[in-house]
Amino acid sequence: MIPQHIPVLQQEIQDYAPQHTKTVLDCTLGAGGHSEALLTRFNQAMLVAIDRDPAALNTAKKRLHPHRLRTQFHHSSFSTLSPILGSMQCEFDYIIADIGISSLQLNQSERGFSFMQDGPLDMRMNPEMDCPTADYWINEATQEELANIFQKFGEERFARKIAHGIVEKRKIKKFSSTQQLAEYVKSLIPRRFQRQGFHPATLVFQALRIAVNDELQELESLLETAIKYLNTKGRLAVISFHSLEDRLVKHQFRQWEDPCTCPKDLPYCVCNSSPLGKQITKRPICPSSQEILKNPRSRSAKLRIFEYH
Ligand SMILES: C[S@@+](CC[C@H](N)C(=O)[O-])C[C@H]1O[C@@H](n2cnc3c(N)ncnc32)[C@H](O)[C@@H]1O
Repeated sequence: MIPQHIPVLQQEIQDYAPQHTKTVLDCTLGAGGHSEALLTRFNQAMLVAIDRDPAALNTAKKRLHPHRLRTQFHHSSFSTLSPILGSMQCEFDYIIADIGISSLQLNQSERGFSFMQDGPLDMRMNPEMDCPTADYWINEATQEELANIFQKFGEERFARKIAHGIVEKRKIKKFSSTQQLAEYVKSLIPRRFQRQGFHPATLVFQALRIAVNDELQELESLLETAIKYLNTKGRLAVISFHSLEDRLVKHQFRQWEDPCTCPKDLPYCVCNSSPLGKQITKRPICPSSQEILKNPRSRSAKLRIFEYH
């Protein structure tokens, strides 16, 4: 049985695919939902798919078994993708990235992503990677470092207070589990700032996950690589789940569309940079209310699409 992850903006990802798509690159294979739908719709297309999580790759390989002759899988993160694509000498009609975390990862308590189930403080999307885990950040990082990540990656209003609380608390006993951390963070946030339907530790968990997986740097690498491997009229579709990511995508797409760096009061362009293509979506596409009702995790998704020329 394929573990459940409901693909977000599935119809829209299909609708915005170039009409005669023959080559697809899925940079966030996950459970393979988007890939499967694209392989079914474009039944002659070749797919290259990556994920940094080996468990996701295994799941998706099973799901995509009927299409195995048209698919290639690579265990890779965005930042290690460029040499893989370079060695393939292939350009793509459609590159998709549905960044963030999958329900497969969130629902496995032992991965340590969730405050709803108890698990270790881990949060690595690639558990084989030797990098600081959430445990390191919570139990070893300085108060200043903690406050910075809560502020920068979580935009958490009580970043300093939470960082101070954690550092004081761990002097007595180290944190060892996600629920222990979540409950403690909750106790630090004044009641009147706690919203119904939104766990008070949500932003702290988001910040830790971004720090552990270096997610913003990864996204920058992805954008830098993807644009080099698009065919003429090829499209890059990016679904993001929080404003930090969406801002990065928005600015990059704008810069590709209008790369001129000349002062605005110059009568003509002297920097000689030319647009790489155009944004297909001036505003991000968001899930419909029906989709949010069926899949509440989709509620913060934003899809932006760029067409290379
Ligand atoms: C939201 S899920 C994708 C779900 C997928 N579209 C589907 O339909 O099943 C995001 C996936 O992207 C992967 N991922 C996130 N950041 C990544 C990165 N920097 N490099 C490679 N994979 C990444 C995660 O491991 C996760 O499996």
